[in-house]
Order: sequence, then structure tokens, then C-alpha cells
Amino acid sequence: MTGKSEMLLSILKLQPVVPVLIVDDAKSAVELARALVAGGLKAIEITMRTPAALDAVKAVAAEVEGANVGAGTILNARDFDAAVKAGSTFIVSPGSTPGVLDAARASDVPLLPGAATASEVMKLREDGYEVMKFFPAEQAGGAAYLKALSSPLAGTLFCPTGGVSLSNAMDYLSLPNVVCVGGSWVAPKDLVAIGGWAGITKLASEAFALRK
Ligand code: 3PG
Repeated sequence: MTGKSEMLLSILKLQPVVPVLIVDDAKSAVELARALVAGGLKAIEITMRTPAALDAVKAVAAEVEGANVGAGTILNARDFDAAVKAGSTFIVSPGSTPGVLDAARASDVPLLPGAATASEVMKLREDGYEVMKFFPAEQAGGAAYLKALSSPLAGTLFCPTGGVSLSNAMDYLSLPNVVCVGGSWVAPKDLVAIGGWAGITKLASEAFALRK
């Protein structure tokens, strides 16, 4: 396993669930990250889907003790580099384009690239990746689909994301080829909007208690 894969795995193994966040402002992202870390979820993915996302990564990296902040929804090399510059310790992409893979090759920060088919997984294996995001997990075929990949594509580890929740997370976490799952359910929009940080810490604690 390469150094970067090991670095990525050590982050993903901090917890069974990586929160996937869509943030509207950097200040509430800091409060949200503190609430998640208090519940045990230290590795946090902030998606680059809002104008505030980069500032949120910077603020969480600088201000939230214990947080390991990554950037998600990275779609091109420019976003990859900006997310690294902001302080991301890992990068997540829903897929794997040559541009994103080139940026990853040139960076010390590990990439969790997305894959949803056997061919996509095989291509990423050829590029040296052993850990991937299975996306969109539920919509692509769910835990049964991922289980079917585990024997022919043995040696590849996944973080399934997309449609994962407290009720189906264990279906994935019980598979031998799953290292953790990703999901937004630990940071519901309505709780974030009212600053319901205690409720979010409770959701994070429940997620942290899920065990492989
Ligand atoms: C996303 O696309 O936003 C992430 O994969 C999270 O998906 P989820 O909201 O279904 O957890």
C-alpha cells in the first residue's frame, strides 16, 4: 500500500461514519464541526458545493481542535488545489477524471476517488488506488452490489456514500471491503439552521457507536 493510501486509511478508520456537509457559512461550519467532533466524528468532509465551502475548510482546519477536515465534491484540478491550499487533509471526488487524478498525483494530500462499476474500480487500481468512494451507494445497487464486487475485486476498500443512513449503515459496515461509510444524515439542515448542536452531537455519537 502506498504512503498516501495509508494516510487516507488512517483518517477514514478514525470512525465508522464520515459526515458529508453542505455548509452555508464558515462560522456555522465551525460550530457544526465542533458538535460532530464532540460526538466522536473527527474526519469531516465539507463539500465544495457552496460559495462558503473553502472558507469553511480554512476555518475548521484552523479553529476546531481534533478535526480532520477534508474537501468533497472535487470535480477538477483547480478545485483540488484550492481545497489543499485551504487546509484539507483529504480530498473526495464523486468520480475519477484524468484532471483530478493528475492533480492528486502531484499532491501529498490523499484522494478518495469515486467509483461505481467494476471497470471504474479496475481503472483506479491501475492508477494505484486501493481505497475508493462507492458512489452513489444506494442508487448504484447498495450493499448487495458492493458485496458482489468484494471477491473479484478483493483488496479494494470502499467508503460507500449516497443514500446511507443510520438504518442501513450496518449493511455496508459489515462487509469485508468497507472501511467506513459517508453520509449527510448526521448534520440535518433543519438542526444546523437552528444551531441545534447538542442534537447533532447526539446523532454523531449514535453514528460513532456503529461498529464494523
Ligand atoms: C452527497 O452526494 O451529498 C453525499 O454523497 C451524501 O449523500 P447523502 O446525502 O445521501 O448522505
